[in-house]
Amino acid sequence: MAQANLDVSQVMEALRRVQEPELHKDIVTLNMVKDVAVKGSTVSLTFVLTTPACPLKTEIENSIRQELLKLEGVEDVKIRIESSVPKSRDLQGRVGIPGVKNIIAVASGKGGVGKTTVAVNVSVALQRMGAAVALMDADVYGPNVPRMMGVHDTPRAVGDRILPLEGFGIRVMSMGFLNPGDRPLIWRGPMLHSVIQQFLRNVDWGELDYLILDLPPGTGDVQLSLTQTVPLSGGVIVTTPSDVALEDARKAIEMFRQVKVEILGIVENMSYFVCPHCSERVDIFSHGGGKKTSEDFGVPFLGEVPLDPEVRAGGDFGAPVAARGPESAQARAFYDIAKQVAARVSVANLTAPPAELITIRP
Ligand SMILES: Nc1ncnc2c1ncn2[C@@H]1O[C@H](COP(=O)(O)OP(=O)(O)OP(=O)(O)O)[C@@H](O)[C@H]1O
Ligand SMILES: [Mg+2]
Repeated sequence: MAQANLDVSQVMEALRRVQEPELHKDIVTLNMVKDVAVKGSTVSLTFVLTTPACPLKTEIENSIRQELLKLEGVEDVKIRIESSVPKSRDLQGRVGIPGVKNIIAVASGKGGVGKTTVAVNVSVALQRMGAAVALMDADVYGPNVPRMMGVHDTPRAVGDRILPLEGFGIRVMSMGFLNPGDRPLIWRGPMLHSVIQQFLRNVDWGELDYLILDLPPGTGDVQLSLTQTVPLSGGVIVTTPSDVALEDARKAIEMFRQVKVEILGIVENMSYFVCPHCSERVDIFSHGGGKKTSEDFGVPFLGEVPLDPEVRAGGDFGAPVAARGPESAQARAFYDIAKQVAARVSVANLTAPPAELITIRP
């Protein structure tokens, strides 16, 4: 067997030439490499991603391999992949939830554009890719998460702690579990605030990489209560391409901006329809407005989801299409969006200056 005449420090030097394309720093500086060893002509290492749903995994892996194979005597590179999701910064006195690294709100200006569908499928996709995920239904008046997740039960309480239910490996909490059936809740703002706080603070969420919040439509009490009390890693805005939906999406963007919550990006749902009979594509609600709006406002575009009867059926029957796995044609868009969301969260957590640094004086 050929012997690579090099030591670990030379390998580290080569790894410093591999950049994380989103964070614009090398992977050694970012502490993404560990367990480097050289044995004969083989270099082995562990590469630690900032999310198991990293969209750049293969690209960075290839760059590592390329750089190391340039070293004299190296014939093989063995890469073990791990992930460690960074925690969001605690923002402006907003107190985080112990054990929960990131809280992500799924919002829209207009109702019925697919927030719950996106929240459910992105949650399932993140879980399938290896993240610890929970989904909180913050739509207290119109909770649709129980139906879309196929979870119907009554959560147990232990003392003042509420045990969430579980579906598709995801912990779930919803007002729909406490008030099932068709009887509407008629509450004023303070009651809403109180139930949202209980869901956030008194539910045993456990150790989570991502807690996804499915918001009601608009920019009202619940949105305010949430954005002002917990440190959100960011908000995802869902819209359809119609002008009416986009008009309201712009309001949601402004709301997040005003309360200083990072906008992770825009999802264009019901983006187009492909006829199953003739394969012709029809832009039922127009097309491209989500991307254009993201450009106008300088926020990321996370992807588009086609209008698909199977997505609707998955929602109605509690079998989200994302549970079919990333290879499924119906699920692919949600996996791509989930990766983008996870990447944006990592970038937000790792690029902004930590709060402590701002207060340190020389
Ligand atoms: N891409 C899609 N293809 C087909 N049907 C979809 C798609 N996205 C959402 N739907 C369907 O459209 C309806 C509304 O979606 P959903 O409930 O997710 O919207 P929402 O924004 O959460 O609504 P609300 O504002 O009432 O909370 C549901 O029946 C859902 O199954
Ligand atoms: Mg909804």
